[in-house]
Amino acid sequence: MADNTTRWAWARVDLDAYVHNITVLKRMVAPSGVWVVVKADAYGHGAVPVSRAAVSAGVGGLCVAITAEGVELRDAGIDAPILIFSEQPIGEVDDIVHHRLTATVYRKQYVEALASAARRRGGVRVDVHVKVDTGMHRVGADPADVPALVATIGANADALRLAGIYTHFAAADTPGHPANAVQSQRFAAVLDALGPVDASVAIHAVNSAGAMSIPTERRDLVRVGIATYGVVPGEGVIDHCGDLRQVMSLHARVSRIQRLAAGEGVSYGHRFVTSAPTTVATLPIGYADGVPRRLWSQGGEVLVGGKRRPIIGVVTMDQLMVDCGDDEVEVGDEAVLFGTQGSERIRSEDWARALDTIGYEITCGIGRRVPRLYSPSV
Ligand SMILES: Cc1ncc(COP(=O)(O)O)c(C=O)c1O
Repeated sequence: MADNTTRWAWARVDLDAYVHNITVLKRMVAPSGVWVVVKADAYGHGAVPVSRAAVSAGVGGLCVAITAEGVELRDAGIDAPILIFSEQPIGEVDDIVHHRLTATVYRKQYVEALASAARRRGGVRVDVHVKVDTGMHRVGADPADVPALVATIGANADALRLAGIYTHFAAADTPGHPANAVQSQRFAAVLDALGPVDASVAIHAVNSAGAMSIPTERRDLVRVGIATYGVVPGEGVIDHCGDLRQVMSLHARVSRIQRLAAGEGVSYGHRFVTSAPTTVATLPIGYADGVPRRLWSQGGEVLVGGKRRPIIGVVTMDQLMVDCGDDEVEVGDEAVLFGTQGSERIRSEDWARALDTIGYEITCGIGRRVPRLYSPSV
C-alpha cells in the first residue's frame, strides 16, 4: 500500500474487503438481488471508487439520497441503475430524466412532474419506484394511497415505467421488535390490494440489518449499505453478520513527541493532568477530521507501536495527544485510530459505542480533508 505523502492523516479504503463483503451478502440473500447504498459519498468511503467496485462485483444497482449524488456517478461514467431514495425538489426533475436516474415517488404531483419532464425530453421513460410508508413515518405514500398512485403512473405509461415498489423498516436492527411484524403485514396488505404486478417490478423492503435478520423480507432485492462497508448494523444483529471485513481504517503519523513531568496539563482547559512522568505523542488529526472532541473522555484509544494508548486531553480541531507511557515512540511512527495494528484492533463501532451513536455516523463523519487511499489503488 502506497504511503500517504500529502498529509500525515489518512483513511485507507480496502476495496477488496468491500467486494468481499458484497460477495458474502450476495450469497447470504440469494436468489434475491443486491443493490448497494452509496449515498453520503458511500458513507464517507468515496462514492465513485466504491460504486465502480460495486458494479464490478455484479450488484443490481446503486442507491443515493439526492439527485446530485446520482449525477456525480453518471458523470464518472457509471451506467448501472441508480435509485434516489426520496422525492427531490421539483426543480430537479429534468436532471433526473437527463441522467437516467430512477426516481422514488410518493406524491401524485411529483409523479406528474416527472412525466412532464420525460415528455419534454421526448422518447424516454423514467423508471420510478413507489415508496410506501408502512411505519417508519419518514417518507413514502400512505398505504391507502398506493393504488391510486400506481394508477397515476399507469396513466403516464408513455413517460414513466413502474420499476419498483418498496418500504423501509424502522427497527430492522432489533430482531423481534414488534414494529417489524407490523410493517411486514402492512406491506403485504399493500401488495395484496394492488393484485399481481408485472414481474419486472422489483419489490423490496430491507436494509443491511433486515437482509440479515428478516429473511422473509428479502423479496426481489435488498438495499444494503452499512454491511457492505464491514460495519455491524447494530448490536442486535451481530450474530447474523458472517465474515464481513471493515473497509475503512483511519491512520495518522506521530508529528511530535514530548516527555512530560507529573502534574502537567494537556490540551485545552488542562482537563487532563499527567499523574507520572510520561511520553506524549501528538497526532495531526482532530475534530475537523471527524475525531469527536469528547472521544478522550469516553475511553478513546489509539494504536501506536501495536499497543492501545489513551487519548489524553480534549481532541482539538486539528490535533490530538496520546499517552505512550515509557515506550519508545518516534516522530513519523504510524498510529491507527481505527483499524488493525499488530495483533490489536479498534473498530469504528468501538467509537460508536463509547459515544452513544452508530457506526454509520463515524465513517460518514470522517472529513473531506482526510485523503482516502484506496487499495487496490484507483
Ligand atoms: C431507504 C433505505 N434503504 C436502505 C438503506 C441502507 O441501510 P443500511 O446502511 O443500514 O444497510 C438506507 C440507509 O439509510 C435507506 O435510507
